[in-house]
Amino acid sequence: MFASQRHLFSIPDQVAYLNSATTGPLLKSAERAAQKAIQLKAEPWRITSRTFFEPLEETRALFARFLGCDADNVAFIPAVSYAMAIAARNIDVRPGDTIVVLDEQFPSHVYPWRNKALETGGKMVSVPRPLPSSQGNWTQAVLEAITKKTAIAALPHCHWTDGAALDLNAIGARCREVGAALVLDVTQSLGVMPLDLAEVQPDFLAVSAHKWMLGPYSYSYLYVADHHLHGEPLEENWFNRKGSENFARLVDYRDDYQPGARRFDVGEASNFFLTPVAKASLEQLLAWGTDNMSRHLGEITREIAARAQDMGLVAPPEHLRGPHMIGLQLPSGAPEDLPAYLAEKEVYVGVRGDKIRVAPHMHTTPQDLHRFFSALEEEL
Ligand SMILES: Cc1ncc(COP(=O)(O)O)c(C=O)c1O
Repeated sequence: MFASQRHLFSIPDQVAYLNSATTGPLLKSAERAAQKAIQLKAEPWRITSRTFFEPLEETRALFARFLGCDADNVAFIPAVSYAMAIAARNIDVRPGDTIVVLDEQFPSHVYPWRNKALETGGKMVSVPRPLPSSQGNWTQAVLEAITKKTAIAALPHCHWTDGAALDLNAIGARCREVGAALVLDVTQSLGVMPLDLAEVQPDFLAVSAHKWMLGPYSYSYLYVADHHLHGEPLEENWFNRKGSENFARLVDYRDDYQPGARRFDVGEASNFFLTPVAKASLEQLLAWGTDNMSRHLGEITREIAARAQDMGLVAPPEHLRGPHMIGLQLPSGAPEDLPAYLAEKEVYVGVRGDKIRVAPHMHTTPQDLHRFFSALEEEL
């Protein structure tokens, strides 16, 4: 395990923040980058055409390194919903085809697929969560739902409410076997849960940067597989056309795009405020390394599970959940006001459905866990 990384964050000692599944804290390095970014816009005479492209390309390259792909496969988008609209536009569904999702999947990864099914005569298949009593494996149920009729498997790596995990290697192989496209939203896992891109081979993969990647809000990344790089973007902007670096010639309108996935970049992707913040957080994530973070957070959630079980709460078995977050079930359900009550004691967790969602990150200390369990014991 790492020694405490708390000094890298501006989180006061008395605050137990265990809610990165809602939004992660900024690193101090990202705070500094944000301050510089604000200063730049206050002095716009320092902004040149290079400012529009260079920080963005550096960030694209860093994300590509982090995911294990080429920078040409990465686009900048504001939100997962935007990514899914691109994916939906570029994958064909025929009448009677199925689109497979998980039960109670995050809405941004459901509404576009419901629309796509309606427009094309396709059918949504929502795979129910296996009963806890059966200790069921959700991956198995998903593999059975992906058939020759499946056009798209639109899935996460782990469920946003409690970290229940899918085996994406097996699901990727199944999609290839039946000719289905695989579209992933890895917002609740990328950064802290290893993903072997070459093995999984998704068509599209989206991640919002503001949770586990410790990045800014309204900033997301989209991976686009090689065979979709000539697809249709959602919008046409000046920036992603070939030659846009030359501001003097922007009205020499061109049909060709910047190379690779850049055609999918949202308008004003350079975002002078957010790009330096995203870059600073990627640098730190790369320095920690996903495998190391996953092991570190795995130790923490293991301890949370053990202590919760001692208190009579139900924790999912380790092999069925991600290493970084855990949904704890109370025998009589989680009171909706529990987060507010815990917040009075400066303990922050989420409640999703009938579970307390505990989501530590690299700043979490043994004192945080002590404060959480003491506060919980008082409430229950
Ligand atoms: C699993 C998951 N996907 C995506 C998002 C964000 O979606 P969007 O970027 O469309 O707001 C969240 C949370 O905000 C989430 O938990």
